[in-house]
Amino acid sequence: MQSTVVILGTGGTIAAAGGDVGYAAGQLSVAQLLAAVPALSAWPLEAEQVAQLDSKDMSHEVWQRLAQRVVHHLARPEVAGVVVTHGTDTLEETAYFLQRVLAPAKPVVLTAAMRPATSLQADGPQNLLDAVAVAAHPGARGVVAVLQGRVHGPVDVRKREPFALDAFDSGEAGPVALVQDQGLRVLRPWPATPSVGTQALERAVADWPRVGVVASHAGVDGVAVRAMVAAGYQGLVLEGTGNGTVHAALVDAAAEARAAGRVVWRSTRCAGGGVVGQPAGELPSAGVLTPARARIELMLRLMAGEQGEPIAPSAG
Ligand code: SIN
Repeated sequence: MQSTVVILGTGGTIAAAGGDVGYAAGQLSVAQLLAAVPALSAWPLEAEQVAQLDSKDMSHEVWQRLAQRVVHHLARPEVAGVVVTHGTDTLEETAYFLQRVLAPAKPVVLTAAMRPATSLQADGPQNLLDAVAVAAHPGARGVVAVLQGRVHGPVDVRKREPFALDAFDSGEAGPVALVQDQGLRVLRPWPATPSVGTQALERAVADWPRVGVVASHAGVDGVAVRAMVAAGYQGLVLEGTGNGTVHAALVDAAAEARAAGRVVWRSTRCAGGGVVGQPAGELPSAGVLTPARARIELMLRLMAGEQGEPIAPSAG
């Protein structure tokens, strides 16, 4: 019977101690986080510390180790699902990475907190309880994020507030489901974004394709693009303005990069929607992907031996 939920700790504010600002993330072990939620004592849980960091410092090494541990635990017949405790700052990147590499049939639920465990407003315990409920739910699958009673898909979840307790949303797609009294109220079809390939599980991180993000803005020049090409970056994502438009200075540098064999995509800095259309002569579009997600997508596609035009995965 599948009933065990494995909690993989990676740090973040959910594991922090201190005041509401200026605290150090990643201080408490995942076992300590579980001990602070009495309602979890009724669940068959296992805890494992994969990392202990502030998620702004997330690395490809930690991603690879985390993905390997997720694969290990999901393959165990008695495991219903995995919860990953994470920092809020890059949770959306890790969720996207795990889904595009693993596309797991069982649920992998990322959760986090905006306040340290010692705060009067600590949101970690309820988020952890909700995340475990989703990971054990027979209707859940794939990588999702659970925060403030909402289940978000890996293509849509986004941190939109730097300090507010209710900091995450799913943009116009809306949440997949609500967690209510440890049950699920499903609001739309469960997301099912496929895997682009599992090379990231085994390939040495030093050999992963280097892909960088360069922002288009008033007064920008092509120095960063040319430096990345000279440093051996294989891909670049330009964080464009509006509908993926890019400053003329970057267009010239991007043309040089493409002539040198680099793949260059354009995305948008707009908070909602995505780049619409692919007019002739424009750089390939990253579609609905944010610049941070487009960077992961391009890196994984290059790792899988793909090049060419991006086809952004659907937000469904
Ligand atoms: C982090 O992302 O690790 C720190 C911020 C947070 O978790 O809210």
